[in-house]
Amino acid sequence: MPSGFRWTTFDLTSSLSRDWQQEIAATAADADFREFPRTPILSREGRDVQRIYRGRVHAAEVRQNLPWLYGLYRGRFLDLAQEVSDEPVMAARDDRYGIVLNVQRGTEMRFECHIDSNPLTGLLFCTDHLAGAGGELVFAHDPDATDVEAIEQDRSVIRPHAGHLIVFDGRRHPHYARPLVSASDVRIVAVMNFYTESYPESTRPRDLNLHRFGRVSGQGRASEPDHGQLGSACS
Ligand SMILES: [Fe+2]
Repeated sequence: MPSGFRWTTFDLTSSLSRDWQQEIAATAADADFREFPRTPILSREGRDVQRIYRGRVHAAEVRQNLPWLYGLYRGRFLDLAQEVSDEPVMAARDDRYGIVLNVQRGTEMRFECHIDSNPLTGLLFCTDHLAGAGGELVFAHDPDATDVEAIEQDRSVIRPHAGHLIVFDGRRHPHYARPLVSASDVRIVAVMNFYTESYPESTRPRDLNLHRFGRVSGQGRASEPDHGQLGSACS
């Protein structure tokens, strides 16, 4: 039997503020756009891929510029994530990776093939993309898929709808975001890490924090530069 992939979608289009997309787009315009090195441990890119061009609004900027979104992550969105789990769900205590924005602009960017280290991920799609416009989120059914081509052979495809929050367990299904088709298009998604009682935040790989932030602990983070080395698509 093939290993399926399942996710839960919450339609929040009627409950977000009128200007929520504009506010997020304004912050995303100043994202950190560059080639990010592949993620240790979690990457499922082909061996020849060392860097992936993309954009990120780091967690500190999200918290500072979009405090209402940071609040939803720890409030309403956490409550919704709880609805799909049989055990207690928690937001990240470490503010370096709790919620970030991933941004793709034009046709050259995409998001790295990877698996998640956290047991539950929430994605709030912030932009709409018509069928055939690219930007789809693609999940492999095969847990051993190790590059884009392998993922695309047997997959589930989710087309972003602005205002839809999806919640899923991406630990065993490699996934990535396809590039956009139009040079003028922009894709923005808010990415949230959630943890559970049986798979708490302490399970996050040490090497991931070392890679991203240059240190394991989040203590003293107020003055700590975020090296922003990477972070998988789901942070
Ligand atoms: Fe992910």
